[in-house]
Amino acid sequence: MNLRFTEEQQMMRKMVRDFAETEIQPFVEKMEEGHFPREILNKMAELGLMGITIPEKYGGSEMDFTSYIIAIHELSKVSATIGVILSVHTSVGTNPILYFGNEEQKQKYLPKLASGEYLGAFCLTEPSAGSDAKSLKSKAEKRGDHYVLNGSKVFITNGGEADTYIVFAVTDQTKGSRGVSAFIVEKGTPGLIIGKDEHKMGLHGSRTVQLTFEDMKVPVENLLGEEGEGFKIAMANLDVGRIGIAAQALGIAEGALDYATAYAKERVQFGKPIAAQQGIGFKLADMATAVEGAKLLVYRAADLRGQGISCGKEASMAKLFASKTAVDVTIEAIQVYGGYGYTKEYPVERLFRDAKVTEIYEGTSEIQRMVIGKNLLV
Ligand code: CAA
Repeated sequence: MNLRFTEEQQMMRKMVRDFAETEIQPFVEKMEEGHFPREILNKMAELGLMGITIPEKYGGSEMDFTSYIIAIHELSKVSATIGVILSVHTSVGTNPILYFGNEEQKQKYLPKLASGEYLGAFCLTEPSAGSDAKSLKSKAEKRGDHYVLNGSKVFITNGGEADTYIVFAVTDQTKGSRGVSAFIVEKGTPGLIIGKDEHKMGLHGSRTVQLTFEDMKVPVENLLGEEGEGFKIAMANLDVGRIGIAAQALGIAEGALDYATAYAKERVQFGKPIAAQQGIGFKLADMATAVEGAKLLVYRAADLRGQGISCGKEASMAKLFASKTAVDVTIEAIQVYGGYGYTKEYPVERLFRDAKVTEIYEGTSEIQRMVIGKNLLV
């Protein structure tokens, strides 16, 4: 693995960092109040960030996978909300069409998703099928030139805001995971009912909703891949998606480390900056070491993915380690700030609340261990 970013990747990093500091930072409070950041997404679209890895022929920026991960990492240092919206839109909202769609589907949807005209979402999780993703209850029944879908989904990121939903439902109950199919469902499809917003601990600007399908008619041309391929489509895209969430966690951790370091250098107690006192100096050293470890795992998985090398194990390792790092480092950052860190006057309590879910969504840490463990045995 080349540990140096290319010139193009460094330019991406600078561009996103500048954008995050000038455009997103002033907007963070509004997102904290629950505002969905459509204005920011429109500006990101102008910069080509909504279709970073999509080929130019489908209207994307056609950059390498590492550049995409750099963008999530840098955005998440300032706003984990923006990080997750982009990660879900790209990794699991758009890529299933890029990798499993037919030419007609690609022509129809990718230019709109890549330009940011459309926002993507991914609908796998159900009330009784979270970690056990193949136990889906949503059903899709073929009737002539369309499928009729019935069922419900929960915890859908970008739900209610998205224009296309990648929906997984059972087409053949007798076949287990091979009986699941994937569909592209457009916003406004009759029978697609947007349910309640979840009131979450963090990521307040990102919408997370329940969805219900009531005799929702989806044209047969919107079946993604073949009937029965849905579970594999979900798993293959989650492999990639998990690198995006790992990069989001890395950004949160690094953001917290930066804040804590700056504060520790300024805050004077017992006659000198607290950074110069061993209790805090050691803490910062451990935080920085964990962030560096997470960075190596995240960019290692990204590099493998960029080369087209299978990286399910490395993606899970990156997510497992980076999400734990995000939680640990944000907790320590609050400790460095002391009482101030526990208030909403300072950013570290938000970073902690945003960090926790990275150990849960796109596969809990326990699921990442299952994936890593299985890979060790083959
Ligand atoms: N790529 C391609 N195919 C895969 C695969 C992968 N990574 N992993 C498994 N498969 C295939 C297997 O080869 C197998 O195929 P065959 O039937 O042809 O042999 C089939 O899928 C079933 O595999 P398993 O028996 O291994 O499946 P399992 O029931 O043991 O489950 C699991 C595996 C890894 C635990 C899976 O259920 C899982 O990932 N669960 C977590 C679900 C998850 O991450 N949900 C996140 C929701 S999305 C989200 O959070 C987005 C958001 O909004 C932020």
